[in-house]
Amino acid sequence: MALSTLQKKQIVGVTGLVMVGFVLAHLSGNFLIFKGAESYNGYAEFLESLGALLWVARIGLIVSFVLHMAFTINLVIINRKARNSRYYAYQNHRNESSLATRLMPLTGTVIFLYIVFHLLDFTFADKSGIPDGLFGLVVKTLGSPIHSMMYIVAMVCVGLHMFHAFQSVFQTFGVMSANNQVAITRVSRALGVLVAIAFSSIPLYILITF
Ligand code: HEM
Repeated sequence: MALSTLQKKQIVGVTGLVMVGFVLAHLSGNFLIFKGAESYNGYAEFLESLGALLWVARIGLIVSFVLHMAFTINLVIINRKARNSRYYAYQNHRNESSLATRLMPLTGTVIFLYIVFHLLDFTFADKSGIPDGLFGLVVKTLGSPIHSMMYIVAMVCVGLHMFHAFQSVFQTFGVMSANNQVAITRVSRALGVLVAIAFSSIPLYILITF
């Protein structure tokens, strides 16, 4: 059974929301860096102590990530084909989209590349023999100005992506109306700006303090 374009958009939306949930949880965990090594490492140990439950969450995240990218790429291809059709040429397509909307393919690609490097930095890194454990590794890694700057660029891309994407889910599910459109768009934009600032504060803090 082939999925309709709307169903594909709904899958992109739901998997996007799962990842927003992860990003917010990850942000709150990483904020413990401001409390020092003991709190930060304690949080990492707590996550590891979840055992099988952590793996259920990880598998949910990986499945969401793969589906989100696969259906987004598929929708882009369908959209490109439609644009080249004669029918589309007769439509009145004005370019009213915001910068964040037009940057979605770029910010999405940067986030993908960022995650690959980020997992190599921390998840798959050899943590043995590093003073202060995971805290020490994060401080050492983000203590490099070039590394930190690349992180900040990626954090801004995460924020820009959410700036547009969060409200887009409400549109996809037909929840947006003339009454709530302004409020939903504001919440989405505020979320994007806050996530970018909050995440960027971590490498900035490390650069200034250590
Ligand atoms: C300055 C900001 C960030 C810091 C300091 C940070 C730190 C970390 C650390 C230390 C780990 C490894 C945890 C462990 O091995 O126990 C990790 C894992 C991860 N991070 Fe981040 N992170 C940041 C931002 C982000 C962002 C913005 C995203 C997503 C867009 C992200 C996605 C992930 C993912 C997917 C994992 C793997 C999770 C897992 O294995 O369970 N991180 N991060």
